[in-house]
Amino acid sequence: MTPRNKPVRRRPIAVGNWKMNLTVAESEAVVRKLLETSGDVRDVDVVLAPSYTALWAAGRALKGSGLRLAAQNLHWEEAGAFTGEVSGAQIQDAGCSLVLVGHSERRRLFGETDEIVRRKVARALKQGLEVILCIGETLEQRLGDQTPVVVKGQMREGLADAGKEFSNRILIAYEPVWAIGTGRVATAEQISEVHALIRLEYEKLFDSVSADAVRILYGGSVTSENIADLAAIADLDGVLVGGASLNADRFGTIIRGLQKAKA
Ligand code: PGA
Repeated sequence: MTPRNKPVRRRPIAVGNWKMNLTVAESEAVVRKLLETSGDVRDVDVVLAPSYTALWAAGRALKGSGLRLAAQNLHWEEAGAFTGEVSGAQIQDAGCSLVLVGHSERRRLFGETDEIVRRKVARALKQGLEVILCIGETLEQRLGDQTPVVVKGQMREGLADAGKEFSNRILIAYEPVWAIGTGRVATAEQISEVHALIRLEYEKLFDSVSADAVRILYGGSVTSENIADLAAIADLDGVLVGGASLNADRFGTIIRGLQKAKA
């Protein structure tokens, strides 16, 4: 029996991407509230990605809980004269064990190319961090039937320097650009289709065991209202949540929705 035939249990994961929002005090308050409402959830990985300025304080607030800290970005060099940038070692020092790489806002608004994404992925892995590689097509690309080409291309390029030994420290977040912050959610069919394609591509890049184990998240207008429908999608292992993660009650509902569907 090949590993592909065995049902693999992947631990569900909910990641809150706070983007450029919340002060230090506000970040701490959301963490505290989240611990009150969802601190007892043990079977879902809950990850928060605050701004750099709030990382340390948020990390301190969630210490001792099961919640984990992620950074939204990192630089590809180890250290040096890169004014305004933050290194993998520094985010790790601030308490992060994960980092988002290649978010569409980084690609679109800050000119991050696949080449830059590749270097960041490699640096983060070398640093010992887990990487959440964000990929996804624009509306134009979807309408032009380019989704498979774009998604596979972003994976191939982004993971080109990720050695096989790191395949268990990579997560893929499928975030269609047209669904981010728009209130327009991808359909279950669209998500299933792309997630299957991502898993297949992961197998080509690594191997079938890694492909069975890799967690694939969906992101783009995930809310406390639509989480039940989204979490019911079999090949969806988690969610990457922007706007709705800024509110502890809403994010708590999302975490519980995921827990319920994946139990
Ligand atoms: P959204 O953002 O949930 O606000 O659409 C998702 C993301 O950008 O990760």
